[in-house]
Amino acid sequence: MKEKAKLNINNSELNLDLIQGSESEVGIDISKLRVSSNIITLDPGYKNTGSCKSGITFLDGEKGVLRYRGYSIEELAEKASFLEVAYLLIYGELPNTTQLNKLLNDIQNNSIIDEDIKRILETFPKSAHPMGILSSLTSALIAFKPEKKISLKSKEESYEDYMYSNIVQLLAKIPMLVAWVHRRRKGLSLDYGNYNLGYVENITKMMFQLPNQEYIENKVIIDAMNKLLILHADHEQNCSTSTVRIVGSSEASLFASVSAGISALWGRLHGGANEAVLEMLEAIRRDGGDTKKFMAKAKDKTDPFRLMGFGHRVYKNFDPRAKIIKVAADKVLNDLGINDPILDIAKSLEQEALEDSYFIDRKLYPNVDFYSGIIYKALEIPNEMFTVMFALGRLPGWVAHWREMRNNKEPIGRPRQIYVGEKLRKFNHINSR
Ligand code: ACO
Repeated sequence: MKEKAKLNINNSELNLDLIQGSESEVGIDISKLRVSSNIITLDPGYKNTGSCKSGITFLDGEKGVLRYRGYSIEELAEKASFLEVAYLLIYGELPNTTQLNKLLNDIQNNSIIDEDIKRILETFPKSAHPMGILSSLTSALIAFKPEKKISLKSKEESYEDYMYSNIVQLLAKIPMLVAWVHRRRKGLSLDYGNYNLGYVENITKMMFQLPNQEYIENKVIIDAMNKLLILHADHEQNCSTSTVRIVGSSEASLFASVSAGISALWGRLHGGANEAVLEMLEAIRRDGGDTKKFMAKAKDKTDPFRLMGFGHRVYKNFDPRAKIIKVAADKVLNDLGINDPILDIAKSLEQEALEDSYFIDRKLYPNVDFYSGIIYKALEIPNEMFTVMFALGRLPGWVAHWREMRNNKEPIGRPRQIYVGEKLRKFNHINSR
C-alpha cells in the first residue's frame, strides 16, 4: 500500500500520496490538492517544490553528492570526455565507440551556419554582452531553419528521429556561435572549425586559432576545457534548466527553449556569478588585497554586496564541483606557468569565510563559480565570456531535460498565485480622476 501524508485543513482531512525517489528522497504529491480542497500551496523561489520526476541528475546538497545518470561527478570529470558525458545525460547510458563516433559525425555534418548569421552578428555593437548575443543568435537560427519540424504526415519519421535531428543541430551550431562571439570581440575572422577534430578540440581551435599562425593543440587547455564543461553539464532543476523545461512545455522548439535558458543563466545569482566573481577578485586586488574589508561588506545587511561565488540554494556543506575546480585551477596555472595573485586572494577569502560564523551559520561555501573564472582567465578567455562558457557546458543538460520533459508528455508549466491586489472597483473616466 502507498504511504500517505495527512493534511488537516479547517478540520477536514486530506490524504496525500508520498512519492519516493530512487535515492529515498520523499515528496508529498499535491497534484490533486486544488481539485479536492480548492486550496493551493505557496512557495516563492520553489524552495520546497519539486516540479517533475527526473532520471538525469541526482544531488544531495547536505552530503555534497552530484551524479549524472548514477555516475559520480568526480569520476566523470577525471575519466570521461565532454561528448561522452553529453551522450550520457541525453540518452541515459555511456556511449560505446560506435555510438560516440556516430554522434560526433552527425554533429560534424551539421556544423555549418548560414553566412547571414554572420551579418546579424556584425550588427551587434562590439560592446554588447556576449550572453545577449548568444541568446539572440540561438533564437535567430530558427529563422534559418536548422530545426526539423515534426511531421505529422510522415510515418517513417519517428518522434525520436525528430528530436535527435534537433539535438544534433543544436550541439553542432551553438559551439560555433560561441566561438564566433568570442572571435568578434577580439576582432578575429570567423571560421567553421575543422571537420576532423574531436568535439572539444574543435571548440578550442575555433576559439583560439590566430589567422596568421599555425594552430598547435595544447593538451592542458583541452583537458581543462573538458573538465569545466563536464562540471557544468547538468545540475537538475536549477533556474535555467527549469526555464528550458517550462518554455519547452508549451511545445516551443528546442532552440527557442535553449535561447530562454541562456537568458536565465545570464543573471549574477546564477551562471553570471562566474563573471561577477572575477570582477570582485580583481576589485579586491586593485583595492590593495584587503579581503577582510570585503568580508565585512558581505556580512553588512545594509550593503548590497554579496560574496560572489559563495552560497548555493541546494549545497549546504560543500559544492563537489568547487572542490574539483579548485584543484584544477592550481594545476592549470602551474602547467601553464602562470602566477596569478587573484588565486591567492580567492584562497584567503575562502579560508576566512570558512572560519567566519556568518558564513558557517548560513552554510555558505564556495560554489562551482568561485574558482572557474580563474581557469577561464588562465585560458585567456575574457571575463564577459565566462557565462557563455558555462552555457556551452550546460547545453547537454538543457537538451536532456527538454527531451525528458517531451518524452514524459509533461503538461504545460503554469503555476498559480495568491492574488493580493485590489478587489473589484468601478472605472472612473479620466476627467474625474
Ligand atoms: N554573501 C553574503 N551573504 C549571503 C550570500 C553571499 N554570497 N549568499 C547568501 N547569503 C546570506 C543571505 O543574505 C541570507 O542571509 P539572512 O538569512 O541573514 O537573510 C542567507 O545567506 C541565505 O541566503 P538566500 O539568498 O536566502 O539563499 P538562496 O538559496 O535564496 O540563494 C544564492 C542562493 C542565490 C546562490 C546566494 O547564495 C547568492 O546570492 N550567492 C552569490 C551568487 C552566486 O555565487 N551565485 C551562483 C550560484 S551557483 C550557480 O547558479 C551556478
